[in-house]
Amino acid sequence: MNLLVTGGAGFIGSNFVLYWLKKYPEDMLVNLDKLTYAGNPENLKSVENNPNYKFVKGDICDAKLVNKLMKDESIDVVVHFAAESHVDRSILDPSPFIKTNIVGTYTLLEAALKNKIKRFHHISTDEVFGSLSLDSKEKFNEKTPYNPRSPYAASKASADHLVRAYYQTYNLPVTISNCSNNFGPYHFPEKLIPLAITNILEGKKVPIYGDGLYVRDWLFVEDHCTAIDAIIHKGRTGETYLIGGMTEEISNIDIVRKILNIIGKDESQIEFVKDRPGHDRKYSVDWSKINKELGWHPKHDFDEALKLTVEWYVKNQEWWKKIKTGEYLNYYKRQYNR
Ligand SMILES: NC(=O)c1ccc[n+]([C@@H]2O[C@H](COP(=O)([O-])OP(=O)(O)OC[C@H]3O[C@@H](n4cnc5c(N)ncnc54)[C@H](O)[C@@H]3O)[C@@H](O)[C@H]2O)c1
Repeated sequence: MNLLVTGGAGFIGSNFVLYWLKKYPEDMLVNLDKLTYAGNPENLKSVENNPNYKFVKGDICDAKLVNKLMKDESIDVVVHFAAESHVDRSILDPSPFIKTNIVGTYTLLEAALKNKIKRFHHISTDEVFGSLSLDSKEKFNEKTPYNPRSPYAASKASADHLVRAYYQTYNLPVTISNCSNNFGPYHFPEKLIPLAITNILEGKKVPIYGDGLYVRDWLFVEDHCTAIDAIIHKGRTGETYLIGGMTEEISNIDIVRKILNIIGKDESQIEFVKDRPGHDRKYSVDWSKINKELGWHPKHDFDEALKLTVEWYVKNQEWWKKIKTGEYLNYYKRQYNR
């Protein structure tokens, strides 16, 4: 099988590329990535010389390039991760989100149609469903109406609608997955878990938005990769699958406390900062459909996977220390006024 992976140099994309090449060594994989601030070719150093792997630096909004790639590389399956992915950045400036997440997805869909792609798998987020209240027992499922509340979530929701429309209108064989918050190796240190781990290791304070009582459903990135694998091989076209993790109701502040505990530090490193505007209180995902239909379930217990993640950041300090300079520093100052 020949795959075109978009955004494969980012956090989830690079984990997926490594996972796929190891599990399916006979497949050909082309990784198209623009290498924005979030893309890091170092994540893929171990496969650089793999004859079945090819990296192409380019933009998913470039119609000529994506058409040529799908044609010349005889692509069967597109796995579309490329996106602007950080809510805080979307609040500072929505424009790249509109371009990459909406126009980029449209450009890929057009090329997929033209090149008779056998499967277009689109990676989306649970943030398209909006926010639950803290005391709610509700979970998002495949029938939950869309209610995006940040420019990031709205751009992803638009992309999901386009993907579905290409199935309904043109019979493009698509599948969509909406997953919860991922964590694990190669996670860019602007997001909560890697930011907390790396700041604690550097002896710095960990900024916590508002009261810290924000609840997410945490998914270990390796479990996300196995879910996408199941959808590509066994998923029904035109269908959406929600993917979630093994956490029950854990708040951001409790996650930071767990990380402090693993590293052996105390709570004096926690610092409460001004809240994010429109901050969604809670996301919770019902992943029973993918479980029933495709037999998938997350394998990693949250505490065990968090420990593995902390260990990875302890062992790979060079990786994140390089990132926490330059452009990242400017962003951090702007966001947290520190
Ligand atoms: N990280 C999460 O917790 C999470 C949760 C739910 C859904 N998602 C979705 O999963 C996907 C991957 O997320 P991530 O956390 O790995 O993101 P990321 O920001 O780490 O990586 C995104 C990658 O896309 C590339 N990219 C950006 N714009 C591009 C363009 N115009 N053309 C080509 N490449 C471009 C970047 O260089 C980067 O390598 C995204 O679609 C995101 O919306 C992520």
